[in-house]
Amino acid sequence: MKNLESYVRSIPDFPEPGIIFRDVTSVLQDKDGLKMAIDSMQELIKDLDFDVIVGPESRGFIFGVPLAYNLNKAFIPVRKKGKLPCETISMDYDLEYGKATIEVHKDAIKPGQKVVIVDDLIATGGTIEAITKLVEMLGGEVVKIIFLMELKGLKGREKLSGFDVEAVIQYE
Ligand code: PRP
Ligand code: HPA
Repeated sequence: MKNLESYVRSIPDFPEPGIIFRDVTSVLQDKDGLKMAIDSMQELIKDLDFDVIVGPESRGFIFGVPLAYNLNKAFIPVRKKGKLPCETISMDYDLEYGKATIEVHKDAIKPGQKVVIVDDLIATGGTIEAITKLVEMLGGEVVKIIFLMELKGLKGREKLSGFDVEAVIQYE
């Protein structure tokens, strides 16, 4: 069986010149790649004491839900602005290429709940930094943050200092 890294396709100059895009679809579209990705992320949190998994739209959903299901936890979706129907709190943030706003339902996380944040990839760390703020505004405690891939050159971890952060695959 191939190693997990070999399932990730790298596309130069997407979506803008100068960016090497690490494509997760090539992992997902192979049954061995998909299984290895979920299993290796699960290893990072399987013995941890926590209550809920929080993941951002859209790629955070792909990994967050199977992990929550396998570990018998709830999943809290953080969505792009304007998608959630009930009362929300929101946060603006910067991405590697652009800006965005994310929202979560106010009643999604209860004070004192222990939260694991899951996403496919950390680039600048802006998305997950915004999520840590939303979780803490609702009284949750971020006990771990996990990614399939980390783009180390963008120094996203610096935005997450103080949190326990792990990634399965790291790119310089
Ligand atoms: C991508 C990726 C992460 C985020 C990483 O999502 O899935 O959530 O960017 O970038 P950052 O570390 O600089 O914040 P994107 O916002 O492109 O949305 P998508 O999952 O819907 O494609
Ligand atoms: N790959 C996938 N998603 C991303 C990237 C990347 O290189 N940078 C920011 N989001």
